[in-house]
Amino acid sequence: MSLSVHRLRCTGCGVRIDGAAAASNFRCVECGELFEVEYAWSEGAPKTKEPVYRPNPGALKHLWQERKTSTMAVDQSGVWRFRELLPIVAEDRVVTLREGDTPLYAMPRSASALGLNWLLAKHQGMNPTGSFKDTGMTAALSVAVSRGFTWVACASTGNTSAAMAAYAARAGLKSLVLIPEGKIAWGKLSQSMDYGATTMQLKTDFDGCVKVLAEIVKRAPIYLLNSVNPYRLEGQKTPAFEILEQLEWQVPQHLIVPGGNLANSSALGKGLMEMKHLGFIKRVPKISVIQAEGANPLYRWMQKGGEGDLEPVQAETRASAIRIGNPASWKKAARVIAATGGWVEQVTEREIALAKAEIGAEGIGCEPASAVTLAGLKKLVADGRVGPEETAVLLLTGHTLKDSEYTIKFHRGDLLTDEEMAGATAAEQAEFARLQREPLVLEADVDAVLRALEKEAGQPV
Ligand code: F0G
Repeated sequence: MSLSVHRLRCTGCGVRIDGAAAASNFRCVECGELFEVEYAWSEGAPKTKEPVYRPNPGALKHLWQERKTSTMAVDQSGVWRFRELLPIVAEDRVVTLREGDTPLYAMPRSASALGLNWLLAKHQGMNPTGSFKDTGMTAALSVAVSRGFTWVACASTGNTSAAMAAYAARAGLKSLVLIPEGKIAWGKLSQSMDYGATTMQLKTDFDGCVKVLAEIVKRAPIYLLNSVNPYRLEGQKTPAFEILEQLEWQVPQHLIVPGGNLANSSALGKGLMEMKHLGFIKRVPKISVIQAEGANPLYRWMQKGGEGDLEPVQAETRASAIRIGNPASWKKAARVIAATGGWVEQVTEREIALAKAEIGAEGIGCEPASAVTLAGLKKLVADGRVGPEETAVLLLTGHTLKDSEYTIKFHRGDLLTDEEMAGATAAEQAEFARLQREPLVLEADVDAVLRALEKEAGQPV
């Protein structure tokens, strides 16, 4: 496969350019909007004189499964296993850490609490660097290598930088990370250091870091790896293929995704719509996006009727991964939500904390930003938008170890303020009490441990 089998199409004015011709900030020079990758087989692609390769669903379903038993790195990757639908680099240029192929877990306790027959969670936190960013990074970093860059860079709330630093290290590239000082979880900061990135903590927020980096890439030959880079989204569409595969090509009714910079919802939507266009499936799930109440620009835009431009907000949430006030890909996400019939919801800090503990109690766990999905689903169920017979899939984006400080504070009871707890219903308060598991500090004495255990169990053990 060669690089020339795709083009970039502007999602604003529709202009098509060669992949290598994109501006360093990946904005269209005609209209300022973002690009998406288009293949000869894509819906709406212009007709060509040469015959077009059209992926064959029957053959590919079989081939993609078969590759799981191969010993080749490109086959073991849960992204490149699907390479017929992402011809953006030659196979020998692929930079992979064997990302993807993440588990789809059943969540029986949450399902029963919500009155649903079943509920599923696609855990993207089970990727090599602990977040969904790996699927996008393997794609875009491979393009960076193919294009001969020596430096790559991103602005990040922590997960993108961890993923970029790891993949850059694998490829022998240098990486520059810009992060908001004091605003990202320690686990993520430590990853970028461990993988050898040049890490700069700027005295601003994520949106401020994005602005600085946009200027840097204009002045220096550095390849931008934020999600405005359309190749990231090609990798991030593959979990949608995996979900379908894992459900034996039965299409779930709902896919619930956290919303930050709003690229992931767009990527999954692109993947699902491609699956439908190519005849793999007959319909697509409704894609709903959940934002934290303190970082909710898309929610606000929708509430105002979904017209005109999105108004950025000053973002504030403990779910630091999605502490984003001016999301770059909001138009792409809004299109996907409209095309699939999904919704946008917002959830409070209290709702996020509870949902995260509930996901932990399922034995799965996730980072706070991922837990907005369960918190949002509760609202969609309460509003009758998700019915008891319907299958919903939560996209869990990050591993629970990413932000252990948050988890420890929750269990010690000092995560939320009194004000935030004040509005809790009696049922919510009981749920907090049931889930909070503060470690006990005891003497190293057998009887003391047994007494404490009996107290915990409420009976002799
Ligand atoms: N969940 C997690 C764990 C994230 O790290 C992010 C984004 C999102 C959800 C939101 O995804 O931006 O595509 O809507 N993190 C970015 C970062 C911004 O820099 O790591 P989105």
